[in-house]
Amino acid sequence: MGKKLLLANDHVPGIKNYEVYRANGGYKSVEKAIKTMSPDAVVEEVKKSGLRGRGGAGFPTGMKWSFLAKPEGVARYIVCNADESEPGTFKDRYLMSRIPHILIEGMITSGFALGATAGYIYIRGEYFYIVSILEKAIEEAYQNGWLGKNILGSGFDYDLYVQVGAGAYICGEETALLESLEGKRGNPRIKPPFPAIAGLYGCPTVVNNVETIAAVVPIINEGGEAYAAVGIGKSAGTKLISASGHINKPGVYEIEMGITVEDFIYSDEYCGGIINGRKLKAVVAGGSSVPILPADKILTTPAGEKRLMSYESLSEGGFASGTMLGSGGFIVMDETTSIVQNLHTFARFYHHESCGQCSPCREGTGWMEKILHKILDGHGTMADIELLWEIQAKIEGNTICPLGDAAAWPVASAIRHFRSEFEEFVQNPTNLKKVRHYESVNQLVSA
Ligand SMILES: Cc1cc2nc3c(=O)[nH]c(=O)nc-3n(C[C@H](O)[C@H](O)[C@H](O)COP(=O)(O)O)c2cc1C
Repeated sequence: MGKKLLLANDHVPGIKNYEVYRANGGYKSVEKAIKTMSPDAVVEEVKKSGLRGRGGAGFPTGMKWSFLAKPEGVARYIVCNADESEPGTFKDRYLMSRIPHILIEGMITSGFALGATAGYIYIRGEYFYIVSILEKAIEEAYQNGWLGKNILGSGFDYDLYVQVGAGAYICGEETALLESLEGKRGNPRIKPPFPAIAGLYGCPTVVNNVETIAAVVPIINEGGEAYAAVGIGKSAGTKLISASGHINKPGVYEIEMGITVEDFIYSDEYCGGIINGRKLKAVVAGGSSVPILPADKILTTPAGEKRLMSYESLSEGGFASGTMLGSGGFIVMDETTSIVQNLHTFARFYHHESCGQCSPCREGTGWMEKILHKILDGHGTMADIELLWEIQAKIEGNTICPLGDAAAWPVASAIRHFRSEFEEFVQNPTNLKKVRHYESVNQLVSA
């Protein structure tokens, strides 16, 4: 069994409740940080841990924290990104709904490290049922003296709020999130300035993912070096993976970074292999935005070694033959999957979710969806495949925020690795009938 740092107590009955969480070592990181460490020492420990942001980009957390501006007399904030809208990603939901206090604890310890006066958890509207879970946990933390004025007699004052979004993918992008949190339309801001300089209400702000903030708890409890000793190289610690698709055991798994992709897919500890003994066709390893890879490329690096579940190994080969760990939304596709149909679903999503601020993304996502629709409908031409390629290339890197890239990469990688499937749709539209249309998830699972 791999080491568990975030889900170690997931099996404990009642762990959602304060008393049980506390009895199982909860809030020790707050005690340790406030009573025995300076805020800078906490930041130093997070730096030593090698923790990288779990929201998708993998930016080193300690470094991000050390960029936070500290002008005299100006409030500082920490904002937890609980928007989790990336298709294929549902690990933050799992953590918040099952062990809410680990997030609250992480928000307090992180808030202390950053000298924040308040923290905000911005949660997507569709997770409405988790709001009451978090609010209850926050209430319990206030009642037990972990939040509010003069926490543990230290002089540290800190309040924590939950804010519900209205269900827009773009509000997961950190500056759109801040706009939304301020009550405005969730359009991404032009950077610089970055949130560390001018974030929420123009004040220095750190935005971190739910899992990143929760990881601060074991880092402070066990020490940064102990955390860095888990995992592999610059992919330190454990990672929550949301596993879905044609696998026997979909779910959320905490893995030690560095296990092989093959083990993750086929071992009984994790996904348990492909359903009905079918063959693996492709994997989207890090949420819908990252490049899709065919079976041989996801299992093996260009150097012929087994690919590992780590930031470095998954990206080996660049976009020509690699992908990204992203947010850990691991979508497995078996041999019955139509790559073109799946891509159309993704393209429809990005078109719907583009905020419309940048023309390449606003127009390009719509064009990509329409062309894919045309191809799927049996009216595509070979020139449409080239046009699709050109459009994605013109979106990538040409927008204020990376939603444009997120929409372009799935298209580029699907054409790069599965061009023959697009051509087949164009040349032999009667093959369309061979594509499976599932009415429901149950039908898919029993197929
Ligand atoms: C379109 C878009 C959607 C995003 N959605 C999320 C999200 O739901 N959750 C998240 O943590 N980060 C999301 N991000 C990344 C955030 O902008 C930001 O990098 C992250 O919250 C930083 O936290 P981390 O350093 O802990 O990963 C998104 C980025 C983009 C461009």
